[in-house]
Amino acid sequence: MTFVEAQRRHAALAEELRRHDHAYYVLAAPTISDAEYDRLYRELLDLEQAHPSLVTADSPSQRVGGAALTAFAPVRHSVPMMSLDNTYSPEEVTAFVARVQKGLPGEALAWTVEPKVDGVAVTLRYEQGVFTVGATRGDGTTGDNITANLRTLRSLPLRLTPSETSGSSSDSGKVPSVLEVRGEVFMPLAGFRKLNADREAAGEEAFVNPRNSAAGSLKQLDPKLVAERPLALVVYGLGAVEGAVAPATQSELLVWLKQFGFPTPERVWTANSAEEILQRIAELDAVRRTFAYDTDGAVVKLDALGQRDRLGATAKAPRWAMAFKYAAEQAETRLRAITIQVGRTGALTPVAELDPVFVGGSTVSRATLHNEEEIKRKDIRVGDLVVIEKAGEVIPAVVRVNADRRTGAETEFVFPTVCPECGTQATRERTAAGEGAVWRCGNLDCPAKIRGRLEHWCHRGAMDIEGGGEVLVRQLVAAGLVRDVADLYRLRRDELCALERMGEKSADNFLAGIQQSRERDLWRLLFGLGILHVGAGVAKALARAFPNLDELAKSTAVEMTRIDDIGEVIATSVEAWFADPQNRELISRLRKAGLRFESSTYTSASALQQGPFAGKTVVLTGTLPALSREEATAWIERLGGKVSSSVSKKTHYVLAGAEAGSKLEKAQQLGVPILDEAAFRALAGPPG
Ligand code: IVH
Repeated sequence: MTFVEAQRRHAALAEELRRHDHAYYVLAAPTISDAEYDRLYRELLDLEQAHPSLVTADSPSQRVGGAALTAFAPVRHSVPMMSLDNTYSPEEVTAFVARVQKGLPGEALAWTVEPKVDGVAVTLRYEQGVFTVGATRGDGTTGDNITANLRTLRSLPLRLTPSETSGSSSDSGKVPSVLEVRGEVFMPLAGFRKLNADREAAGEEAFVNPRNSAAGSLKQLDPKLVAERPLALVVYGLGAVEGAVAPATQSELLVWLKQFGFPTPERVWTANSAEEILQRIAELDAVRRTFAYDTDGAVVKLDALGQRDRLGATAKAPRWAMAFKYAAEQAETRLRAITIQVGRTGALTPVAELDPVFVGGSTVSRATLHNEEEIKRKDIRVGDLVVIEKAGEVIPAVVRVNADRRTGAETEFVFPTVCPECGTQATRERTAAGEGAVWRCGNLDCPAKIRGRLEHWCHRGAMDIEGGGEVLVRQLVAAGLVRDVADLYRLRRDELCALERMGEKSADNFLAGIQQSRERDLWRLLFGLGILHVGAGVAKALARAFPNLDELAKSTAVEMTRIDDIGEVIATSVEAWFADPQNRELISRLRKAGLRFESSTYTSASALQQGPFAGKTVVLTGTLPALSREEATAWIERLGGKVSSSVSKKTHYVLAGAEAGSKLEKAQQLGVPILDEAAFRALAGPPG
C-alpha cells in the first residue's frame, strides 16, 4: 500500500469509527458488533504503526494514548465559568422569575428546564472542529488543563461533524472556527456501581457517590487510569464562539450542539411562567430516577440568549438562571440490630438492620454504618428511631438518630473485638490517611475470608469464572471441597454434582469456566489474588512492568515504586504478600495447576530503548500544547533519540506545535514525517 493509499484508508477508518462511537456512546444505538468495531480499530492501529505521521490529535486511537503528567497546567477561561444560585424552595423560583421580569420590563419571557446533572463542570475548546483543550472550572477564571483525560471519554467528539441537514438559508450547520462548549462530566450509575464493586473487591475504599467518583477520576494524572473509568459527557452551554453565529435561544443551542455530535440533556422542558416552571420541575422529578445518571436538581434558564446578555450576572452567578435542588429523600425507621459483616480482607463492617422503609425509589432494610467511630460519633443505639437518607447515590446511609424519641430501652452497641465468624481476636488499624479506624480479623483461615477470597477470584472483573458466586462458594467451603483458590483447579465433576441443587449442566459450566481461567491475562490473576490495595488498575500496571509473576514476586518495594501509578503503600503491600510463606505456597500450587504466569501486556524498559526514537534525529518547532521544549527534549533523549536544531534530509521527525514556521515548511518539502504532540506521545509510549 502506498502512503497516499494508507492515508485515504486511514481517513475512511477514522471517520467510520467516529460514527460508530457517536452511535454507541451518544445515541446509545450501536450500529455494528463489538467484534467488527475491534477489527476496524485494529486496522487503524496497524496503519498508524506503519505510518506514524497518520496519528493526528483527533484520531480515534488517541483516546487512550496520553502519557502521565506530574501536574495539570492552568488554563485561563476566555469566558468565565460561573456557578448557579441554588434553592430548595418553590417560592424562591417564583421570586426569581419576578426578579427577571423586573429586569426586563414588559418583555415576554420563555424558559427552559433541564436536568441538573451531578458531575464535574468542564469547558471544551474546538479549533477548526478539532478538540484542542479541555479544562475544569477551577475558581471560575482559571481551571486545570485536563485535555488528555477528557479525550478518553467516548461520548466526547474529538472532531465535530458539520450537519448535512442544516437549513438552506443559514450556515447553521457550519462548524465554527472556534467553539467552546460547557458541560458536565459524570459517571453513569451502572458504571459507578460496577466500579465500586471492583474497588471493594480490591480492598479499596468505595466512592461515596457518582459525583465524587467522576471528580476523583478526572483528577488522575495518568489518562490510562481515566480511560478505565466509565465517564460520560453532557453539554448544555457555550463559551467563546468565532466564525459562526450561535443560535438565539437555549432550545436551539442544544439542537445546534447535538448536530455537531455532542451529547445534550436527554430531556429539556420549556415553560412560559413561574407556574409552568414549577410544573416542569415536578415532571422532571417524576422521571429523573429512570435516567442513567444522578440528577440532583433542575436548572431553570431564560431561553433567549439576547435577554440573558441584557440581564448580566452578579460576581458569582448569572441573573438569568437558577438551580432548583431536590431534597435528598429521607425516611424514619427503627434500627432493629447492628450486625457485623466480615469482608475478604477481614474488615469488620457494622451494618444497620432496619425495619423496611421505602425511600429514594426503593425499599431499604439495611444501611452501612461504616465503622465503630461512625456509630459513636452519631451516637447510634440499637432500638433507636433513625433517619435514613438515599440521595440517588446507591448506598443508603443513617444520617442521624431521633434522640428525643428515645424510651430508655435503647442499648449502646458494643463493637466486638473478636471476629464474629471465627472468634479470632481482631485488631484495630488506621487507614493510610489516618481516618476511619477499622477492626480486622487477622486469621487467614477465617471462613468469611476464605469465602470472600474465592468469590473475588471468580469475580467477573478478576478471573471471570461463571457460577462462582456467593451461593456456590458457600457450598464448596461448607462441604470442605475448597479452602483456597488453588483447590478450585482440583475439583472433580462428581464432587460438584454431589452438591445440593447442582445440576450436571451447571457443574460442567463451572468446570469449563475454571478451565478457561487458566489462560487469563496475568493482571486478572494478580487482581484475583486479592492483595490489599491491588485493584484492577494497579494489577494492570504491574503486569505491564513485569514479564511474569516470578519476576514480580522477586522484586522489592523500592523497585516497584519506580513504576508509574505504584506508590509506597501499594508496593509495601505487594512485597509483604509475596514474602508470606503461605502465599508462596499458594503460588506454587497455582503454577502446578497450569495457570499462566507470563504477562502478555509487558513492555520492558529495554523495549523502549529500541523504540521509535533510538538513533533518530528529531527537530522541534512551534509551541506544543502540554510539553515544554525542555521536557520534549529530555523525553526524546531518554528514548535514545537526538534533538537537532535544523531540518535536513537526515532528520527523522519534526515535532511541530502551534505557530511552527519555516522548519515545518522545510520538513514538508523534504517529506520528513511531521508529528504533533499527540502523535509524538503515541509513538513515545509512557514517559520513562
Ligand atoms: S448551566 C453559568 N446547566 O451545576 C453557569 N449547569 O450548580 C451555567 N450543571 O456549574 C451552568 N447540569 O456544573 C447548567 N443543565 C445544566 C447543568 C449544570 C449540571 C452544573 C454545572 C454548574 C452547576 C451549578
